[in-house]
Amino acid sequence: MDGNGRWAKKRGLPRIMGHDAAERSIHDSVELCGELGVEFLTLYAFSTENWSRPRAEVSFIMKLLSRFLKGNIEDLHRKNVRLLTTGRLSDIPEKPRNDLINALKNTEGNTGLTLILALSYGGRAEIRDAVEKVAVQVLSGKIQPDAITEETIASNLYNPGVPDPELIIRTSGEQRLSNFLMWESAYSEFYFSPVLWPDFRKDELKKAIEDYGSRGRRFGGLED
Ligand code: FPP
Repeated sequence: MDGNGRWAKKRGLPRIMGHDAAERSIHDSVELCGELGVEFLTLYAFSTENWSRPRAEVSFIMKLLSRFLKGNIEDLHRKNVRLLTTGRLSDIPEKPRNDLINALKNTEGNTGLTLILALSYGGRAEIRDAVEKVAVQVLSGKIQPDAITEETIASNLYNPGVPDPELIIRTSGEQRLSNFLMWESAYSEFYFSPVLWPDFRKDELKKAIEDYGSRGRRFGGLED
């Protein structure tokens, strides 16, 4: 959800107001994905690197997270959205973490869009954590080292039941992965938009999805 800070700066506002304005684009994305029958939407809300931001900004983002969960839980429920998280949830301060846990429980039976909030998430951290789990299985003799497959790693990631992303959208003109879903993105399509996240509303998301729809995916093979 890139470009919040720049969006605020352009208006002479403090950076945090950009994060505040991010919520409308989150609403739009959830709504449109639900309408289009998109099954999974992951929002990169806070990376393992974002902890190095000023304390006041981090604390504001954590408050926003709680506000978002409290203010939207009923609407998410009504929209049949199931909430999941990815990342090191134990890093998140107690209050927003408890709000998250409640929201996860509240929506676990929903069968529409799965909305995944990436929080204290890093692609390298996720792979590291998966390797640790596999190492424990090797040490206990459950698996032999030469029996480790890509599937072994994939099934030890944070959300093994969630498919790899088909499309990754990066807003605000940035053109890099920034430690997002490094394992899962091996064959993802990328869409780069110059639009800042708070302005990335339904029409922009529609454009991205339409662009994706016009692409041929070969996964390293040949087209029929
Ligand atoms: C990136 O923009 C945005 C973030 C690091 C934080 C995003 C978090 C939220 C919107 C709030 C919490 C999440 C939810 C689900 C309510 P940036 O600050 O890097 O912007 P810049 O690139 O313009 O500086």
